[in-house]
Amino acid sequence: MSNHALPFGADPCPPAPHQRRHLLGLIGASRAQLDQLLSLSRGYEAGQQRAVKRAPSLRGRTIINLFLSPSTRTRAGFELAAQRLGADVVSVGTADPEESLLTLAHGLEALRPDVLVLRHPHAGAAHFLAQHIDAGVVNAGDGLREHPTQALAESLTLLHYFEGLEGRKIVVLGDALGSRVVRSTLVALTLLGADVVVCAPPTLLPSQLSAFCCETTHDPDQALRGASAVLLLPLARAHQDGQSLGDGADYHRFFGLTSARLKWARPDCRLLHSGPLRRTLDLEPGLTERLREAAHVQAHFALAARMAALYFASGGALRIG
Ligand code: CP
Repeated sequence: MSNHALPFGADPCPPAPHQRRHLLGLIGASRAQLDQLLSLSRGYEAGQQRAVKRAPSLRGRTIINLFLSPSTRTRAGFELAAQRLGADVVSVGTADPEESLLTLAHGLEALRPDVLVLRHPHAGAAHFLAQHIDAGVVNAGDGLREHPTQALAESLTLLHYFEGLEGRKIVVLGDALGSRVVRSTLVALTLLGADVVVCAPPTLLPSQLSAFCCETTHDPDQALRGASAVLLLPLARAHQDGQSLGDGADYHRFFGLTSARLKWARPDCRLLHSGPLRRTLDLEPGLTERLREAAHVQAHFALAARMAALYFASGGALRIG
């Protein structure tokens, strides 16, 4: 694959059949591999500014979206991405609980998909599938392990706001334990040279995160000092039970994003979020307007990242993650 952006509009070279690759995660990716994916995404992003948004790179190809755990944004994004690429797309949202993932995947393989996009409740499910089926596999979230296209969208959004991330302080604030994207995000942002600080209550901060070249803290005021951007991780429903932390009011008081806390950050600090937020819990309601603008930019880049992921997975033999 070229290092340059896709020649959008010029009917880009369709990938050779039977040379599929997998996008399973970003853990283990190099800066060069990340740059390839970002560059490919930017090529598609440029095309989304045009009146005719279709880039028929995958015309005649078949994409199956197999979403076996809840998703709104990612699923819609992959469906639209496949359509924009001119592919035939089928989405499957439920399966017989008695049927194994492997049996189900082999059944779908009979439809001869070029790419299978998987959202699954179990960590490692996408890796497992990649070993057993003859199609490129894209991980759309496997349990709480990785969610590479979401991390690409966050990276592209931050790179849209800032020329580069080298030396910029990015704070990842909230429920790190319940986030499916935090690992992929930490890999991407640290590869891009950002100084990443993860801030969460002690019970919601997995100790393994310190292996991701980031700082960790339980003190939001300290974390936010000089921050260029904050990525909010919503408090997972499973952690609102009083076992992992006190009640919601306590969470908001000690870890919610408030305008008083934001005074510690840079005046041009950007606010992003990685999933559905709960006003009054994750943040002060008055800040939602500030998040909305970035959310639109993020959704725009997420579509481009998903187009890039589908194109990538239809392509060659390189494997990331
Ligand atoms: N960010 C994210 O994964 O959203 P969905 O669960 O709606 O796909």
